[in-house]
Amino acid sequence: MDKFYHIVTYGCQMNVHESEKIAGILSGMGYKSCDDPEKADIVVFNTCCIRENAENHAFGNIGMLKKLKRVRKDMIIAVGGCLPQQMNKAENLHEKFPYVDIIFGTHNLHNLKELIEKKLNSKKTVIEIEDSEGEICEEDRPLRTSYPNAWVNIMYGCNNFCSYCIVPYVRGRERSRQSAKIIEEVKGLVREGYKEITLLGQNVNSYKGDLTFPQLLEEVAKTEGKFRIRFMTSHPKDFSPELIDVMAKYPKICNCLHLPVQSGSDSILKAMNRRYTSGQYLEKVALLKSRIPDCAITTDLIVGFPGETDEDFNVTMDLVKKVNFASAFTFVYSKRQGTKAAEMPDQIPEEVSKSRIMQLVDLVNSQTRALSQTYIGKTVEILCEDYDDKRKLYLGRDEYGRMGYFPSEQNVIGQFVNIKVEHANGVSLTGNIVV
Ligand code: 5AD
Ligand code: SF4
Repeated sequence: MDKFYHIVTYGCQMNVHESEKIAGILSGMGYKSCDDPEKADIVVFNTCCIRENAENHAFGNIGMLKKLKRVRKDMIIAVGGCLPQQMNKAENLHEKFPYVDIIFGTHNLHNLKELIEKKLNSKKTVIEIEDSEGEICEEDRPLRTSYPNAWVNIMYGCNNFCSYCIVPYVRGRERSRQSAKIIEEVKGLVREGYKEITLLGQNVNSYKGDLTFPQLLEEVAKTEGKFRIRFMTSHPKDFSPELIDVMAKYPKICNCLHLPVQSGSDSILKAMNRRYTSGQYLEKVALLKSRIPDCAITTDLIVGFPGETDEDFNVTMDLVKKVNFASAFTFVYSKRQGTKAAEMPDQIPEEVSKSRIMQLVDLVNSQTRALSQTYIGKTVEILCEDYDDKRKLYLGRDEYGRMGYFPSEQNVIGQFVNIKVEHANGVSLTGNIVV
């Protein structure tokens, strides 16, 4: 009889890709994917803890399986990823949800098969949280679910310890993969027909394999075939002119860059331990724009960091106006136990943060909308990713990351198509194929 798995993923691209690795392990054990947790023999929650609401979301959904587990006693529920990796959280989870069968940390993903086998032979909850990161495991074969896009890890972990961030505590220190392994993986993916490769790391610019990151990117860009290359995330302190040179030299590398600034205020940046000033950030942006004028720059911003004054917030707004980001992820600061910022005085009241985030979102949206309008009448190359059943339109992105919708008689998923843009509605574009 067939056995089924269902994976619920929270958080960043890193987690999305790790869920593909979990899917690879489960399919290797003979399980098949299913969309309905009620039909699944194993449900895996791949969790995130970057902000409190990500945690609450996961807690809520794990709680919802209690009833199901009562009638389906043989179903296995596993909770893994960043949430249980936090100090004391695994015990916490176990107390709160005693019906969860397996709890595993970020460094135990590769052992999932053994953990499941252990559970199948025992009534007890299996809890495995490894503190140290160990060697990089090259054995996992991800079961990719995002064709024509493919994620490729180049490094794991983070050494930056931005004072608000839990990532270095739950993902461990930086470890880089060997460049040969990365290039081999990219070549294989291109051969299989993938059309967009995104190199992934918490801070790709501090890649320290046998090459530097710009050298690695150049080697990847030399791979033959028509495909796009993206990379994320870049830390502004390590973003270098050498990297701009490589981006400018190879058309395969998309002219877009995710460069999280977090704040425009120098005192807040210092308290965040970001190790650059707003002036240095703007200089890097200016250099990038002088070399690649059409480069779309996107960012992450946090409001309500401890001690953030109205003046600090206003200079963040000024910086956003100056850079004119193509889009931005905006967050309200969330206190994470164990980080430096959690101990800082002057935590900002919720009403103040809410009012600031609303102003910031309005500004970012108005910039994104204005930029969308400039597309009308232009022809853009879209890599078709999917079909939207509701809108009866195909969709994909241009090299700048902007979403475009269009009708087509044929299935063009995985193909590059040229679209003449007719409408720009907020962040996305609509148009028709031109030949
Ligand atoms: N509160 C709010 N936002 C956070 N981020 C990281 N930690 C926190 C936190 N404690 C944001 C940063 C980062 C993005 C991935 O998440 O902007 O770049
Ligand atoms: Fe967190 Fe900073 Fe590392 Fe990014 S660079 S993962 S924000 S500590």
